[in-house]
Amino acid sequence: MLRRFTAVLVLTIAVALAASGASAAVALMPRPQSVTEQAGALAIPGRLAIVWTGCHELRLDRAAERFQRDLGRLTGIETFAAAGPRLDIACRAAEPGALALGAREAYRLQVDERGVRLEADGPIGVLRGLATLRQLLETAPDGSAALPFVEIDDKPRFAWRGVMIDTARHFMTVGTLKRQIDAMEQVKLNVLHLHLSDNEAFRVESRRYPRLHGIAAQGQFYTQAQIRHLVAYAADRGVRVVPEFDVPGHTRAIILAYPQLASHPVGPGAAGAQVLNPASEETYRFVTRLFDEMAGLFPDDYFHIGGDEVGDDAWAGDPAVEALKAARGLKTKAEVEAHFHRRIHQALTRRGKIVVGWEEVIDTGTLPRDVVVQAWRTSNATARATAQGHRTIVSAGYYLDLLNTAAFHYGFDPLDTSTAGMSPADAEAARKLHPLVAHFVTDGIVVRPAPPLSPAQEALVLGGEAPIWAELVSDEMLDSRLWPRAAALAERFWSPRDVRDVDDMYARLAVQQDRLRRLGLNDRELRARMASRLAPGDTGPLLAFLDLVGPVRNMAHDKRVPAALRGEKAVQHLTAAADAAPVDSLVARGFAARARRLVAGDRGLAPQVRAELQAWIVNDARLQAQAAANPSIREVLPVSAEIAGLATAGLAALDALEAGKPLAADAAERGRSAIARAEASEAASARPIFAFFGKRPPGDLIITVTPGLRALIEAAASP
Ligand code: ACM
Repeated sequence: MLRRFTAVLVLTIAVALAASGASAAVALMPRPQSVTEQAGALAIPGRLAIVWTGCHELRLDRAAERFQRDLGRLTGIETFAAAGPRLDIACRAAEPGALALGAREAYRLQVDERGVRLEADGPIGVLRGLATLRQLLETAPDGSAALPFVEIDDKPRFAWRGVMIDTARHFMTVGTLKRQIDAMEQVKLNVLHLHLSDNEAFRVESRRYPRLHGIAAQGQFYTQAQIRHLVAYAADRGVRVVPEFDVPGHTRAIILAYPQLASHPVGPGAAGAQVLNPASEETYRFVTRLFDEMAGLFPDDYFHIGGDEVGDDAWAGDPAVEALKAARGLKTKAEVEAHFHRRIHQALTRRGKIVVGWEEVIDTGTLPRDVVVQAWRTSNATARATAQGHRTIVSAGYYLDLLNTAAFHYGFDPLDTSTAGMSPADAEAARKLHPLVAHFVTDGIVVRPAPPLSPAQEALVLGGEAPIWAELVSDEMLDSRLWPRAAALAERFWSPRDVRDVDDMYARLAVQQDRLRRLGLNDRELRARMASRLAPGDTGPLLAFLDLVGPVRNMAHDKRVPAALRGEKAVQHLTAAADAAPVDSLVARGFAARARRLVAGDRGLAPQVRAELQAWIVNDARLQAQAAANPSIREVLPVSAEIAGLATAGLAALDALEAGKPLAADAAERGRSAIARAEASEAASARPIFAFFGKRPPGDLIITVTPGLRALIEAAASP
């Protein structure tokens, strides 16, 4: 439940860049370690003439071909048969064998009048340099393409930069996963952690245990051929695939297929029993043989065994577990878990794999030091794991399924020890919300002040991973739920620690989002498809509305949780406006940025801001008219009306600002109270767990244009 915690051209380009006040390098994401811009640009009229020196392999030929194709997609220029300038690629050292953690990713890039030179430490560095080169590509007003003169020296801050995709709660098709891998390559993310089994499903074809995919996958699973294809596809793009098969908890699907593997606790928690029996040799035989088969499919050195959220009652009173405890001197549930994990670790180590587990696996502090720990509940866990000598991947603060803003996640640094998690005061208050909640609010989710990591501990932090659990994410939602926010986290994991300017991040994120779309990300098309179910025949007003709102945060949109707290069961279809709404609307961000610049004195923006506000009012009228004949969109009408009201207040503020007179007191009051209402509905879902108990706004939608409106109204009320 918690998880769910060129000479004319050169001139033209230079002029265009100066006019926009931006530069090509400004829109690089992740921001490189060092960028030196020079005046001028290199025209790219066609395919680059690539000259290889040093290591050169088939994977790089394929990468170069993709790069040439992408030049066409990025610029829209179809004369890519034409000859362009030289691209010299020098790759220092070959890295034969499977893609591995610590692959050489550093590269240097130079663009000048002679052409482009890319020097990389290894083949993966070539991919990273080509990703940056795509981002540098600019289109001039006459439609021609160019690369600005620049020198870049770049390498990653962290070696492990991932996303975790949950394929168990909602199945993600191979095509969808490939689009995510394509986007990952563009922002230099290098690990795709696939969560492949959970209570809801087991998603990989198993020849040894065919009942797993046969009866525990609802017909939706990856064949072994598809897994091999996906792994090879990712490796070509410098992305490692790390599989996770969650044991011993989160195993209801496995137990559905092989009931003899279940433990048999007695007592109040027994009803939900879904945990493997740690006292049975059959369990170890099963897990060992299954993992052996799966290890053969996933060549990566790392293999994730889950290990999270085994309930306190999981084994309570089970006579077999009691006997195990007596025989082995195990006193606590955590010691039984550690016993289980040691057995699995032994088997996987023999198989040549390095075990990764969620932070609970080190609760007893007795697991071998080579186990890699994934810190997820609080940043304290990073301190704890590294203090025990474990290499650590940080996910605390990076749960994209909680539907927080890019800025929120971007604010957490993987090396911080006390930032992410629930405050002690919130924990105390949360325990009073409901007896079942009290059960979930354990010490493990409470973050306390912790000393900074020592240099030795810092060296153990491999990097970060942004999980997206899929209770509320379907296949068609993945592009827009993962992106563009994952690009901001790609920067957090790649760029220097002091790259933290949020406004600058958002300005570049908007540009990068559009590049990802030109390269194949489908978020807009899929959102339009979702909207067309709600407003068939005329999706325009609904889509325009969706740019101004977002879904409530922290799983407040999950109807099943409040139902469960009432002892009921609910079914949730991901077909509502809230499911199609962007988590962190860049349209709303753009509006806020314009409003702030306007109030800071850039009055030239007034006509655009005015037109935007007027458009919202007109859009509301269109939606209201549409709703007369279409009940499916009625639930969003109160929110649309509220936005129209806010826009009216914003226009009054704009009039006052342009007239140089203060906004009338009653108009200011109306504006402020409309904003306060909108902010209150956002605040109601701002805190995990509390979000389930907050008052849910109509349609589970929060208004995201509030910050821009607040800036206008406050400036006009007190000029
Ligand atoms: C988790 O979110 N249970 C790792």
